[in-house]
Amino acid sequence: MNPELEFSPDRMRQIGYRVVDRLVDHLATLPTQRVGTKADPAVLMKAVSEPVPEQGMEFEAVLDQVERDVLANTMHVNHPRFFAYVPGPGNFIGAMADALISGYNVFAGTWISGSGPAAVELTVLEWLREMCGLPASAGGVFVSGGTMANLTALAVARHVKVPGRLEDATVYFSDQAHSSLEKALRVIGLLAESHRKLPSDSGFRLPIGELARRIEQDRAAGKHPFCVIASAGTTNTGAIDPLPELSALCREQNLWLHVDGAYGAAAVIAERGRELLAGLELADSLSLDPHKWLFQPYEIGCVLVRDRDHLRDTFRMLPEYLKDTQLHSDEFNFTDYGIQLSRNFRALKLWMSIKVFGLAAFRAAIERGFVLAEFAEACLRGMPGWEIVTPAQMGIVCFRYSALDDAAHLSLVQTLLEDGFALITSTILRGQTALRTCTINPRTTEADIQAALERLDAFARRVTEPRP
Ligand SMILES: Cc1ncc(COP(=O)(O)O)c(C=O)c1O
Repeated sequence: MNPELEFSPDRMRQIGYRVVDRLVDHLATLPTQRVGTKADPAVLMKAVSEPVPEQGMEFEAVLDQVERDVLANTMHVNHPRFFAYVPGPGNFIGAMADALISGYNVFAGTWISGSGPAAVELTVLEWLREMCGLPASAGGVFVSGGTMANLTALAVARHVKVPGRLEDATVYFSDQAHSSLEKALRVIGLLAESHRKLPSDSGFRLPIGELARRIEQDRAAGKHPFCVIASAGTTNTGAIDPLPELSALCREQNLWLHVDGAYGAAAVIAERGRELLAGLELADSLSLDPHKWLFQPYEIGCVLVRDRDHLRDTFRMLPEYLKDTQLHSDEFNFTDYGIQLSRNFRALKLWMSIKVFGLAAFRAAIERGFVLAEFAEACLRGMPGWEIVTPAQMGIVCFRYSALDDAAHLSLVQTLLEDGFALITSTILRGQTALRTCTINPRTTEADIQAALERLDAFARRVTEPRP
């Protein structure tokens, strides 16, 4: 029994080194490993489920089980041949920062409990604000990811623009907007009848003319349009909504412009991204996920709001047991700027990794995502039978094998999952299933892409060509 839940310094070191050794072995051999494994639910639950253990056991035995039953049954989203969904390339400094944060058990909700962390978080938020070109009045908060960033932003939009009755409030977005936005609208009490989900244009963007028409139509019908949601890099195709035009329309119509840049906004630090993302700086609120294209381990998302006071007006509460935190006006309490009170010090991993690698390395790593997607597109164009559905855009390419129907494309994904060499997943564009690659891992090589596509091609041919 160990009722103090504690170990001697020597044993703690031993345990820590064991973890680091396993981690380093895993990361160093990642390119030669399977891209991951999805276990059969019945088999896996049998291996893992057990009555709560009354007595403890050796750490090493538990670690063995973690590796065997748990971590082995994951997709390695940082694997250089994981091209599915949005990869999570991560980085080792970020992982070590997470270990530090957990070890110190940092509380990053108030200045009184975490002044150093708050100073770092304010600094990193200021870096992101500047990168995105938002004015000095802007501020933000780190949250768990894009879903929570979108929820936080839309809660602020609602608070500022429709503080009273919600019944007639209407909100506009395209059929390419991420599902987390509709989820967020549901959470803040805006039901489906208030959503205006407009069919996207031929480039998968929010159509500005149709948007203006719908706003006018809603006003004429006595509705209260209050918010437009734009995407700065859609999950499906990497499309960027026309941000400058949307901002002009929103200003003219007194609407809140939220930009979901959870996937794409980080690309603003690279030259190509900066050009494509012109107008990002015009957002009233902006989501940006460092755990995607800024190479951080989960979970770190960020929401920036053009006027930081709007965040405080939306979220600040003053219960009697937090009075001590509010005595000095120059002290910054992050709990006043978001939903959480107890919160993790997420900013540390981004701060440490930018300090260790330098922003230039991040810029080059993002540029590489663009280049790799173009390489994938060029490979596919050179492979007979394959057609490009959407060309390389913000690190994403969508494509099909002409001779295969939708169901066969879904089967190809299952074949890739079983094969384990690389993973590419599907989506639906204009009612048709397409395969989709997202190449934002800077450790991916051209050879990884070529080999993955050749293997996919062989699987597609196996379905269509009769066997000799
Ligand atoms: C454009 C966009 N918005 C929001 C999200 C949700 O982010 P998270 O999974 O971090 O909650 C994603 C996730 O891929 C995304 O691509």
